Amino acid sequence: MNRFAKYNVHDNVAVITVNNPPVNALSQVVCARLIARVEQAESDPAVRAVLIHAQGHTFPAGADVKEFGGPKLAPVLPMVCDRIEACIKPVIATLHGTVLGGGLELALASHYRIAHVDTKMGLPEVNLGLVPGAGGTLRMPHLCGVAFALSFMLSGKPIGAYFAKKRGLIDDITKGNSLAAGLGMARDVISSGTHVRRTLAQDQALRDPIANLSAIKQARAAVVTSVLMAPDKIIDCVEASLLLPVKAAKSFEWTAFGDCLASKQSAALRHVFIAERLAGKVPEVERGNPREISNVGIIGGGTMGAGIAVSMLDGGLNVILVERDSDSLEAGLSRVTAVFERAVAQKRLTPKVMEARLAALSGSLQMSDLSEVDLAVETVTEERTIKEEVFAQLDAVLKQGAILAANTSYLDIDELAATVSRPADVIGLHFFSPANIMKLLEVVVADATSDDVVASGFKLAKRLGKIGVRAGVTDGFIGNRILKAYRLAAEYMVEDGASPYQVDGAMRDFGFGLGPFQGYDLAGLDIAWVQRKRVAASRDPALRYTRFGDKMCEAGWFGHKVGRGFYRYVDGASKGHEDQTVLDLIADARMNQRIRPREFDDDEIQRRCLSAMVNEGARLLESAMALRPSDIDMVMVHGFGLVRWRGGPMHIADQIGILQIRNDLQRFDSDDTHIWRPAEMLNSMTLNGQGFGVLNS
Ligand code: 3HC
Repeated sequence: MNRFAKYNVHDNVAVITVNNPPVNALSQVVCARLIARVEQAESDPAVRAVLIHAQGHTFPAGADVKEFGGPKLAPVLPMVCDRIEACIKPVIATLHGTVLGGGLELALASHYRIAHVDTKMGLPEVNLGLVPGAGGTLRMPHLCGVAFALSFMLSGKPIGAYFAKKRGLIDDITKGNSLAAGLGMARDVISSGTHVRRTLAQDQALRDPIANLSAIKQARAAVVTSVLMAPDKIIDCVEASLLLPVKAAKSFEWTAFGDCLASKQSAALRHVFIAERLAGKVPEVERGNPREISNVGIIGGGTMGAGIAVSMLDGGLNVILVERDSDSLEAGLSRVTAVFERAVAQKRLTPKVMEARLAALSGSLQMSDLSEVDLAVETVTEERTIKEEVFAQLDAVLKQGAILAANTSYLDIDELAATVSRPADVIGLHFFSPANIMKLLEVVVADATSDDVVASGFKLAKRLGKIGVRAGVTDGFIGNRILKAYRLAAEYMVEDGASPYQVDGAMRDFGFGLGPFQGYDLAGLDIAWVQRKRVAASRDPALRYTRFGDKMCEAGWFGHKVGRGFYRYVDGASKGHEDQTVLDLIADARMNQRIRPREFDDDEIQRRCLSAMVNEGARLLESAMALRPSDIDMVMVHGFGLVRWRGGPMHIADQIGILQIRNDLQRFDSDDTHIWRPAEMLNSMTLNGQGFGVLNS
């Protein structure tokens, strides 16, 4: 019993210490222990006040997210909160760390709250597609007012101790030990003898629903365009807390919590939360010791190199940017500076911070200036001979133990590693553009890469605020292989009769920020063209080949950078317009291929794109190029802009059912056997009644 909630009495104060590492999540068992401890304190004649505190680095950070998919067992967190609130002895919560979700609700149900000055407090349930479900939507408005409570719960963002005190969320702040400060507060409450147990029922007498209606109305107007369910439900709950008797309002909240919990959106958001943390758990990281990285060399100051430099500087690292001539170097350094200047102009960064970041940046024309760096990342042209040349130069100058990283999208890192004298120090670090913004970092592990170097790659990802995902050496790694399958499905549909604009619209509705043809325009159609030409000689003749992309490139319609691609961009505008000449070109290409166009509805477009992605994902898993399905989902969410509430293609496949995906693939098979042939894994999963979820461990 002591394991999850310890009980000690100090001078008439019962100290209940939550102990459930790493974040003291309020699991079922912790909830049961807490109720028992509160009852023990209540019936203990030696006790005059109760202090709730937590061991380790934080007060509970919420209910246990990992239990949410399982059966609901009593006691649930609302019962714990109600039991604390109903305690006949004063209950004080002493807070430290990240007091979030159910943890904060536990504190709100206590009669007094004191927090360490560094404490962060929040109700982030909305980020998991949930409403606070343990009285938060009742107690917050009654404690801090409706308008603030709504913005607090709808943003999900934590606040600091001073602001929390100003808003009435906590009673006091301590700069010292939180346990000692809590005990001090408990003694003060005992000695003052003035404890009046405030309950929600009493607070209800203070409510003024009419005055609060406008706050509710405003909040509704702000979320009217949101496709998410939880924000609306949070507002409903706050409104209910003003209008209904306490008991009914609590049950309203609990029902809303249950509805959200059962929703696909919440399942996807919780999947992403867990998948983000799972991605870093890879065998090499568990075995390896990360190397210290403070100084980084970046070779190439183009868009990618500059973006990586910004990301490294944001992560507090020193950067030397190397270019081959002074003009290119100047341009590269200016690109980096421009990113920071924009951030200052938009007030996302202070000039002082910008200065500090730029002070850690230097430029050089000599590879030999990289002799002391811990990591060198090449970002030069995507051509094998050029990369090999750069690697040879690095091999000659880098100190022993330095890491050589290739930022390639496609090239074979095993082959690259074989060209240097220290293949164990070679790794692929595939950043996504813009590298200072996109959160994905594919950590590409070659055959010879040492565990320490892999562990260093993942540690670096964390330091840069990115999600590192392990990928094996395969043409396009995870992201570009899935992207290729997705684009092929989209291109086939366009060649068969859909317009690129319809496909883009359907895939935006599906949850991508941009449709596949908008993506082409942004990246540049010439990039895929070069790639197609690179593999032309080895292309499988059985693979269907669409021609309109080549025709567009031959006409110089490379996308946004030249003002026209699938869309027209007037005067460099970021938003493009549909272009009839593109539709005409596609119609011509169709005619040349003797294809009779047919109609596609949005549902079919989405199903074809999804099943192509899932099939390629299954192939990546079969060949162990991806470690787990949720890693593939993270690549699509953090590298390709799929909204979090969709969870990722593999998660959606589980929601739809593998049988359905497999049947769709077989149905599409008549068009083109090559991309649609179901991966063997899908057949065996169907037979075993399995989903991808079971492989996420
Ligand atoms: N339940 C279960 N496990 C949790 C958890 C939770 N609520 N919060 C964090 N963890 C686990 C993580 O999965 C991770 O596990 P691992 O070591 O096995 O990978 C470990 O705790 C550490 O987490 P992080 O890697 O995220 O560590 P950080 O120090 O970077 O961040 C944190 C800590 C700020 C607490 C962050 O984990 C976080 O934001 N957690 C989620 C908080 C949250 O959403 N709470 C609300 C839950 S819903 C709820 O309470 C419903 C209620 O209203 C009824």
